[in-house]
Amino acid sequence: MICLVNILLILLGLFVVKNALVAAFFFQEIRAAQKRDPAAKGFVEVLLLYQGLHALVAYRIAHILYQVRLFFVARFISQLARFATGIEIHPGAKIGKRFFIDHGMGVVVGETSIIGDDVLLYQGVTLGGTGVEQGKRHPTIGNNVVIGTGAKVLGNITIGDNSYVGANAVVIKDVPPNSTVVGVPGRITKQEGRKIDISLDHIHVLDPIMQQIEELQERLDKIEKKQ
Ligand SMILES: CC(C)(COP(=O)(O)OP(=O)(O)OC[C@H]1O[C@@H](n2cnc3c(N)ncnc32)[C@H](O)[C@@H]1OP(=O)(O)O)[C@@H](O)C(=O)NCCC(=O)NCCS
Repeated sequence: MICLVNILLILLGLFVVKNALVAAFFFQEIRAAQKRDPAAKGFVEVLLLYQGLHALVAYRIAHILYQVRLFFVARFISQLARFATGIEIHPGAKIGKRFFIDHGMGVVVGETSIIGDDVLLYQGVTLGGTGVEQGKRHPTIGNNVVIGTGAKVLGNITIGDNSYVGANAVVIKDVPPNSTVVGVPGRITKQEGRKIDISLDHIHVLDPIMQQIEELQERLDKIEKKQ
């Protein structure tokens, strides 16, 4: 009986020490989560219950091991974290400060991804390769970028600082800073605070099917006017 109590006390002690360390080393990230998630009620809630934070802690450890070329152990930790959190961050990715993954499930961050400071990802985001590139084949995400739920950002492209990627967008081309990109394939709808009228914009139009539909619409309008 005394033995069991001792084991429980040791486990409790380890739990407290582990969380005290995480709170100290990840203070900024926990505060960022509180700031960005209106549902977060307090520091301890984020510390103990947020999968995004737990995945980040595992990633930071795995990344150190990856840098000293302990690839197998690094990947092992990342896979354990994936099992526990539903978030897969490759240990080779480079991630800046105050990174926050809200809700988390289904997030994938590829090996050669580079993520700046103050980036927010929602559930279901993929920072992936296109399947045809070698070397640096995952995206570079600037500072203060928000990537909406289910969005896929594919290939060695850059999402500029302060940009938003809309929910479920599929982005396969560079996005300039201070932009909003939505849809499949991603099209820029806002830049530097100004709305972009896609029908007038010949620089950012990415979707050939939309272009054809717009041409057909124009022809239809002309025919209707003639009648
Ligand atoms: C893109 C987003 C950031 C809004 O940006 P915004 O600049 O405020 O955009 P607006 O609401 O003014 O919409 C601009 C246009 O894009 C469209 N749009 C907005 N979000 C869209 C999306 N995810 N997919 C497709 N079109 C979208 C709007 O309908 C609007 O079209 P219109 O000009 O033809 O009317 C936001 O809609 C979004 O997707 N956020 C992600 C949030 C998220 O993932 N939350 C998960 C919480 S669990």
